[in-house]
Amino acid sequence: METAAYTVDREEFFRTLVEKSDSGALRGDYSKADAQYVVEQEWHAYTPEQHALWRRLYERQARLVPGRACQEFITSLATLDAADGIPQFERTSDALEKATGWRLVAVPGLVPDHTFFEHLAARRFPVTVWLREPHEFDYIVEPDVFHDFFGHVPLLFNPIVADHLQQYGLGGLKALKLGGLKNLARLYWYTIEFGLIQSPQGLRAYGAGILSSGGEIEYCLTSQNPRRIAFDAERVMRTLYKIDSYQETYFVIRDFQQLFDETAPDFTPLYSRLSHEEGLPANTLLPGEVNIATDQ
Ligand SMILES: [Fe+2]
Repeated sequence: METAAYTVDREEFFRTLVEKSDSGALRGDYSKADAQYVVEQEWHAYTPEQHALWRRLYERQARLVPGRACQEFITSLATLDAADGIPQFERTSDALEKATGWRLVAVPGLVPDHTFFEHLAARRFPVTVWLREPHEFDYIVEPDVFHDFFGHVPLLFNPIVADHLQQYGLGGLKALKLGGLKNLARLYWYTIEFGLIQSPQGLRAYGAGILSSGGEIEYCLTSQNPRRIAFDAERVMRTLYKIDSYQETYFVIRDFQQLFDETAPDFTPLYSRLSHEEGLPANTLLPGEVNIATDQ
């Protein structure tokens, strides 16, 4: 049963999102969502055309990942059995639960921050149910099932990333209380969405925004335009980002353990220190920072 607080909360969520959105509306159907914004995937309702579009997206992207994605992603993707059509989340969840204790939950689209964090904190990853339209093959504003599943799910099978994301969810709930959300959101953006890793084979991508993109997956590794800077949690949390263009800066981790370790500390003092700072422009290179060379 809905509480009054929940109803107000949900109205507030839609109001702020509609203000931010170009079209003035969200794509998903939220009418059947429960209090945690979870819906049924309704897998049988996907059309043959939608499965065919998924296959084209998957094929294009699977061709691009060798030599560009980190090995952990590639190995896991191969076990997902997701090449033939939009996957059934329940089946993937059963395999994922055995591997790292995570499950996927179907959502209509974007969900409020605290709901997103609550899911992560409980080792549940929200995956959007709808697929983009054919004319959005190369670019989509709101994350769809292809971005969420292809980009994010493979690394949920990695135990360190899985633990890190749960910690991130717990940290997010804390950041909401401490006014640190904008700083913490930058961390997610520059790691889980657009992170690079210095793997034994060379520079590779692990961020879902990159790995689900037909263009940025090559750009982030080879273009001379963006900066590539060694990961530092505070530096990342001070840095603004753009959502409508390729990144101007990528942050490079040594390995997933570094990501876990450097984001484990209590950020309370950092949030208060950064609370009045505007944020560094996305193309900043600070004195002493080294722009990591590409190996291609
Ligand atoms: Fe994402």
